[in-house]
Amino acid sequence: MTKKIVFLGCGSMGEAILTGLLAAGTAPQSVVVTVRRSERAEELALRHGVTAIASNEEERANADAVTGADVVILGVKPVGIAALCREIAADLAPNAVVISVAAAVSLAQMEAVLKPGQPVVRSMPNTPLTVGRGVVALSAGTNATAEHLEAAHQVFDGSGIVLDIPEDQQDAVSAISGSGPAYAFYLAEAMAAAAVEFGLSADIARILARETVAGSAPGHAAPRRHQPERHHRAGHRHVRRPGVAGHCRRRCEGRCRPRRRDHGRARREITRYHFWPYFPEPGIT
Ligand SMILES: NC(=O)c1ccc[n+]([C@@H]2O[C@H](COP(=O)([O-])OP(=O)(O)OC[C@H]3O[C@@H](n4cnc5c(N)ncnc54)[C@H](OP(=O)(O)O)[C@@H]3O)[C@@H](O)[C@H]2O)c1
Repeated sequence: MTKKIVFLGCGSMGEAILTGLLAAGTAPQSVVVTVRRSERAEELALRHGVTAIASNEEERANADAVTGADVVILGVKPVGIAALCREIAADLAPNAVVISVAAAVSLAQMEAVLKPGQPVVRSMPNTPLTVGRGVVALSAGTNATAEHLEAAHQVFDGSGIVLDIPEDQQDAVSAISGSGPAYAFYLAEAMAAAAVEFGLSADIARILARETVAGSAPGHAAPRRHQPERHHRAGHRHVRRPGVAGHCRRRCEGRCRPRRRDHGRARREITRYHFWPYFPEPGIT
């Protein structure tokens, strides 16, 4: 039997999951999405062939969308999750799995607002799901059985690697893979911009930067290959000196200790000190 999958909120992250899901073979007819604005709903319906409803136009859009749903993905900003759970609680089937993608919203917070016994799964996906290269961490809530967790796996399986982790590790995952694509993208853009400045075509520059970043992750090459050639060592030292490793640590610390968040500072540091003195400002889109 075809499952009904509902996305409540379909912005950057929701659309990345949706794109991966459809590319992996899910029929658009089995998917309903809701967003706030009608122009965004039209855009999603046109681009993906799914049913898309604007909650600004239809007061019961979210509640009606979840009626008869097997899987419901909460894709709004963290601040809107509790209100959304309250809005849909009465209309969810008891066996429908609610999957949140929101950073820093706990399973307990969602379970407290939904009906007793509602299965909930907390996830931390990332935007490379769009191109089938995502990574997603899942944590099952109190009422989620192995079958419910499997349903959550199926949402992401076709477009990335899916890991099961304890919930208390979700904030660290958010700091590394949830928001990490922005940094990898920044580095690739900076490399491509430098290549263009030194005479390569934009197309070639983009391919060089993209493939270098994609192929250089730990596990993609033998460890000794990560050592730069002799003539690259000066540049390597330059990138290492300001402490990219320290930055990554501070990102995790910021996420895991909410009262001491330093996202803004960490981002300013990585853009201002780590890459920009070495590469020119990125200008390639
Ligand atoms: N972006 C990432 O890389 C990333 C990574 C991991 C996790 N996440 C998580 O993903 C969630 C969404 O982030 P995002 O970056 O995708 O944000 P976003 O682009 O702003 O998307 C939010 C979506 O929610 C819709 N929305 C807001 N209120 C709604 C309501 N009451 N009913 C229906 N739709 C509603 C918005 O509609 P309109 O478009 O019409 O305004 C928009 O489509 C967050 O909780 C975040 O923690 C994001």
